[in-house]
Amino acid sequence: KKIVILISGRGSNMQAIVQASQKEQWPAQIVAVISNKADAAGLQFAQSQGIPTQVVESKGLTREVFDQNLQQVIDQCQADLVVLAGFMRILTPAFVQHYQNRIINIHPSLLPSFVGLHTHQQALDAGVKLHGATVHFVTAELDHGPIIDQACIRVLSDDTEQSLAQRLLEKEHLIYPRAVRLFIEDKLEVQGDRVLIKADTS
Ligand code: GRF
Repeated sequence: KKIVILISGRGSNMQAIVQASQKEQWPAQIVAVISNKADAAGLQFAQSQGIPTQVVESKGLTREVFDQNLQQVIDQCQADLVVLAGFMRILTPAFVQHYQNRIINIHPSLLPSFVGLHTHQQALDAGVKLHGATVHFVTAELDHGPIIDQACIRVLSDDTEQSLAQRLLEKEHLIYPRAVRLFIEDKLEVQGDRVLIKADTS
């Protein structure tokens, strides 16, 4: 299986996925890391691992044109799975449709709560005692789509946006590689709004 990972910045989730794939010897190859920003720090890590990187510039382009350019690059890689890892772009319905059931994202909240940006602040403002992260299939509606896995942390009285983000990131680095692996092993089945995880029959 061929995996393409899209990033916009630091790329720590991408790094966790690359490292898990190496350590656990997945029957899959990360064929490209693509960024919409030339200065995304994560590109250097990918290069250091010998993974081809590409920059698809979004500046000055309409959403439609950018997504078409991106789709072309991804399809040249013959990707079976598109992994969004801190990819800070809203994708057009046409793009999402093209990769239906083979594009996944991680969002730093317990969906369906707190879609969009500033999720840690949203959680603090709402006064919730549990916060978390969600791995989900991407659909046309932002931060929706069938949920593959979630992890949660307790919100402590002295937590800030930064401390929540930092603690949550450690959980993200556990659940995201695990979810990608389940996909690679054909263990995820989308049934309407739900994802069934197939039992191991091997
Ligand atoms: C993560 O918190 C992820 O959940 C969110 O953006 C952040 C990206 O971090 N979508 P990184 O680039 O993977 O380090």
